[in-house]
Amino acid sequence: MDKLVVEGGATLSGSVQISGAKNAVLPILAATLLADRQCVISNVPNLKDVRTLIEILREVGLEAEFRSPGTLVTKVVDESNCTARYELVSTMRASIYLLAPLLAKRGYAKVSLPGGCVFGLRPVDLHVKGLEALGAEITLEHGYIVARAPKGRLQGGYVYLAGPMGSSVGATANTLMAACLADGKTVIEGAACEPEITDLALFLNRMGATIEGIGTPTLKITGVPSLRGGATRVCPDRIEAGTYMAMAAMTGGDIRLHDVRPDHMGAQIDVFRAMGVTVEDEGQGVLRVARSGPLTPTRISMLPYPCFPTDMQAQLVSLLSVTPGMSVVTERIYPERFMHCAELSRMGAQIHREGPSAIICGVEQLSGAEVMASDLRAGAALVAAGLVAKGTTTVHRVYHIDRGYENFEEKLTGLGATIFRVSSTPSESIKRAA
Ligand code: EPZ
Repeated sequence: MDKLVVEGGATLSGSVQISGAKNAVLPILAATLLADRQCVISNVPNLKDVRTLIEILREVGLEAEFRSPGTLVTKVVDESNCTARYELVSTMRASIYLLAPLLAKRGYAKVSLPGGCVFGLRPVDLHVKGLEALGAEITLEHGYIVARAPKGRLQGGYVYLAGPMGSSVGATANTLMAACLADGKTVIEGAACEPEITDLALFLNRMGATIEGIGTPTLKITGVPSLRGGATRVCPDRIEAGTYMAMAAMTGGDIRLHDVRPDHMGAQIDVFRAMGVTVEDEGQGVLRVARSGPLTPTRISMLPYPCFPTDMQAQLVSLLSVTPGMSVVTERIYPERFMHCAELSRMGAQIHREGPSAIICGVEQLSGAEVMASDLRAGAALVAAGLVAKGTTTVHRVYHIDRGYENFEEKLTGLGATIFRVSSTPSESIKRAA
């Protein structure tokens, strides 16, 4: 397994190009299963999760070829296989996005349950609730979700989709995709408002869907008999952008992020500014992020959009671990999403866990260490800590980072960081296995 070696002491400067959003491109690619004709998706990031989803989509009859780097052309050529099998789904929970399009377009879907992850159970009850509100008959069979549309078509309906932790991005995406081909009208209350859902909805409307209330918690969909093809450019990744913002703040750097949507990052920009970071919207999708003075501690909860995103929690904890004073971070989405704290503590961070909160007392300097990534955001947070730690930090299990960060070490090197990848050879892996 590859690892990243980071030398501390960098001050990031220069420009970095932000890629298309992982959490937008995944549902958009799944939505191409709904189309009768060709789709063209541009600004597709070169990520492990994207390659995995394309492999799964090909198994259910989607032809998908890159016309040029980042531009994918898709067309459904075979609708006979409606099963997303465990071996692939277990490597990426976003495969759950196949459930709705297969069900709505073909009348049947069999998708392996995605299982949990390191930051807790990842239930799918809201996905089931949304699809059952459209008349789907759903059973759980031997680790698979099996969904059927009576008489081959779904019926429009009403569903309140938010659960105990608030709105669900995935359940909103699935219910929205299914409603587009359901007979009649659908109202989804308590829908997620994340920009990635907006990106999906705009793409569906370009394919001929009729979705109103885009960007609000109430989505109204009038079902249509079929969807033509469509083209879309995937919106910029606000979490990737926030990750580099946090790194610039940590290293006291001065960087420019290119191809960002500041209007998708209100909560992040507000928190960084309150902490003493300069964040300037220079227009044309350019955001300047700089920090020269002392950082100010903060108290923040991770909540559904437009509040501070849970996917930026680990990176923020990293930044707060070198922010003088006491800060409190409370996870309202995934209360167990703190695996990175133990690794940061090995680097000298002072973090105390209290239920869904982490209390962080900033330290003068972290010390480099061997640490292990537990998920993609934790991995990025550990690299961030390595940028300011004294000495060398080696981050293991870099495959987590590769799932969601395009050209991660190249982009950081371009900003002045000293970071390189050590790839393990097959023989080494065999040795380790023995
Ligand atoms: C999406 O996951 C993202 N993944 C996650 O990003 C992100 O952390 C999450 O939304 C929250 O913003 C993708 O978009 C591929 P949810 P998703 O359904 O859809 C509970 C990353 O780092 N819930 O919005 O699975 C759930 O347990 C990844 O890029 C139910 O109770 O998240 C959680 O507490 C990690 N029942 C809350 O809702 C359900 O049926 C929000 O989950 C579904 C979810």
